[in-house]
Amino acid sequence: MEENLPIVELLTSSDWIDYELLDSGNGRKLERFGPVTLIRPEAEAVWLPKSSAQDWRGASAEFIPSAEENGGHWVFKKKVPERWTVRYRDLRLVLNFSNSKQLGIFPEQACQWDWVRSVIGERDEPLRVLNLFGYTGAISMAAAAAGARVTHLDASKKAIQWAKENRAACKLPEDRIRWILDDGLKFVQREARRGSFYQGIILDPPKFGRGPKGEVWEFYRSFPDLIRACRSILAEDAKFLLVTAYAIKASSVTIGNAVSEALLGLNGSIQSGEVCLRDRSGGRLLSMAVYSRWKREA
Ligand SMILES: C[S@@+](CC[C@H](N)C(=O)[O-])C[C@H]1O[C@@H](n2cnc3c(N)ncnc32)[C@H](O)[C@@H]1O
Repeated sequence: MEENLPIVELLTSSDWIDYELLDSGNGRKLERFGPVTLIRPEAEAVWLPKSSAQDWRGASAEFIPSAEENGGHWVFKKKVPERWTVRYRDLRLVLNFSNSKQLGIFPEQACQWDWVRSVIGERDEPLRVLNLFGYTGAISMAAAAAGARVTHLDASKKAIQWAKENRAACKLPEDRIRWILDDGLKFVQREARRGSFYQGIILDPPKFGRGPKGEVWEFYRSFPDLIRACRSILAEDAKFLLVTAYAIKASSVTIGNAVSEALLGLNGSIQSGEVCLRDRSGGRLLSMAVYSRWKREA
């Protein structure tokens, strides 16, 4: 019998009111973000849609991909707001059409927002949390709402500006989040030299990316250095570390192995798996990302 196999779990986010995966199939997904129904490309949807063609035709806009990776444009079929806000629990998150298929949130991540909040829990001293590759900051908002002091880092000025709008929409105190425009790996290495430690680290590195000075991020080449550097800035009383990865070949076992190697000797448990969306009918799961997370045992 096999022993010591890691725990692999599929996570879904069932508490959304303002978001629904209505259907998926034929390489696309039909989703509702608040009052706005949209179609976006989805490579994983290798099956047939369940809803009628009429349901799909009712979408307000569709993102049409181009041959270029992540390229494409929105085609609007109905009048849609330029920007709008969705709610998740006490969070308010601003959505916007950009020149990519992304709207500002990854709704499948709500289960991780909840997990981070539950791990931060209630404590007298605010936890120091670092969010790398933070994008528009939904998880930074969740951590800050739970009382943490968050350092939110991204290489894009536009993403940081958007995250600041989310901070304001969530009515979180200004001093709860520190904003850093920098390269993720360089910043962590600098923090290690400065002896600056964090009790929680969140990272959602892309497949490819660039730091503000053109530093190249390439998942398979850069991740091993980053996860080790993250270990060196975890405080002695650290509570958690969460890695999510999209659009890469690696399975959750790969990410889990890297996390357990980097955190060897730390007391706690590691869970790895996939973050999924469940369609409205409650049946089919659509896998969106892999994750691995460590939590100190109480
Ligand atoms: C949204 S996350 C990735 C989300 C999801 N994993 C995906 O691939 O779609 C990507 C964020 O990382 C940022 N980023 C890319 N390269 C970076 C780097 N070298 N240092 C810091 N942030 C970076 C981007 O600006 C973006 O906001």
